[in-house]
Amino acid sequence: MEIKKVAVFVSGGGTNLQAIIDAKNAGKLPFCELSLVLSSNDSAYALTRAKDNGIASVVVSPKAYASKADYAKALIETLEGYGIDIIVLAGFMSILDESFIQRYENRILNVHPSLIPSFCGDGFYGLRVHEAALMRGVKLTGATVHFVNEVADGGPIIIQRAVQVLDGDTPQVLQKRVMEQAEWDILPRALALLSEEKITVENDKVFIKQ
Ligand code: GAR
Repeated sequence: MEIKKVAVFVSGGGTNLQAIIDAKNAGKLPFCELSLVLSSNDSAYALTRAKDNGIASVVVSPKAYASKADYAKALIETLEGYGIDIIVLAGFMSILDESFIQRYENRILNVHPSLIPSFCGDGFYGLRVHEAALMRGVKLTGATVHFVNEVADGGPIIIQRAVQVLDGDTPQVLQKRVMEQAEWDILPRALALLSEEKITVENDKVFIKQ
């Protein structure tokens, strides 16, 4: 089996990027090379994490392009320059054009901080997801890793993990628990499965080889 070159797309703090780096250092991603961190903005702390860990990084900002299609073209050129096989959206807050998604079908992972199909889709990102969960009064929330398709948060689901909501939770407290108990574990796990060619997709459903 070939080693896959992985690009991690980020926009902010990059704690999920860190979880992937930690998994790699712990020997849990033997078929992944962390080749590139791509940020949509130049002030993302995730860029510092890339530098500290000797991973190449680039900033490709949607603001610099006239259309989503032009932005997609720039992203694809960058990824092709690095020979990227797998893309991980780890807190990446820009919407990707269909041309990009089609180019990398079933090779783009996203982590979302709820149990999809709850609290997902347009407008649900970052803390807003946890605000909505608390507002609704759910007792369980969690995180989902899924393939990215043309429907926002609508692609085939790979792994989900439930997390309890506790009395007195604030969005920040709940966000932290969901990251610690779910996201930071299931995202590297899904990446390992994909890179080890253990995932198949049929009729929009994921099957995992044991
Ligand atoms: C994470 O909670 C991730 O699930 C969420 O943004 C946060 C990024 O944190 N992503 C979304 O809401 C995507 N819809 P990080 O930069 O520390 O990894």
